[in-house]
Amino acid sequence: MSGPVNPPEPDGAEDGRRAERAALRERISADPLTTRRDYLRIVATVSGGLVVGSTVVSAGVLHRHGDGEAGAVKVADRLEPGQAISFDYPGEDDRAMAIRLPDGTLVGYSTVCTHLACGVLWRRDEGTDGDLYCPCHEGKFDSRTGEVTGGPPPRPLPKVVMVEDAQGAVWAVGTARSGEDEQEGLCRGLRQRDPQLADRAGCASRKSGK
Ligand code: FES
Repeated sequence: MSGPVNPPEPDGAEDGRRAERAALRERISADPLTTRRDYLRIVATVSGGLVVGSTVVSAGVLHRHGDGEAGAVKVADRLEPGQAISFDYPGEDDRAMAIRLPDGTLVGYSTVCTHLACGVLWRRDEGTDGDLYCPCHEGKFDSRTGEVTGGPPPRPLPKVVMVEDAQGAVWAVGTARSGEDEQEGLCRGLRQRDPQLADRAGCASRKSGK
């Protein structure tokens, strides 16, 4: 079975990325809580667009437990390619998993199957990225996207938004609903918890969620 193939990039994609990074640089340099080292690391790790989550971690806020809100929670000091770790997020009974795919991409998901809520496992040796597998009725999900690839699950796995900090530690910083863009989900949660930080992180320019 072959791994996912990236489509050719449209003209101007590189310019778009440069503009995105310039905007990120501006936002982060305006944040007095962000150190230069954090900034360098953040730029290296948010090419996937997790600007908001990185700002949350670098600002050192929302490290709260037991207040019923999903803040930033450190789940591992390090996660190497090909490794996964299970944890509970955002609540104590919400099973989740972070996976470092073989190419270094960091992803996170709820591991509660969208069919009948059995526990989903990561099978490292299935295909290029492994797959997310539910043993109850042989449901399968794509490890890179959470999309359903087989069996009865009706919806993709909801995402847990993961970021890496300056020391290489891995954090869960928010959740996205099934099928929701990661930054949309993160901005929705951040607006509820800290509207000012949401603005500083660039959420104001994204459409409001509920
Ligand atoms: Fe997961 Fe049925 S509960 S496939």
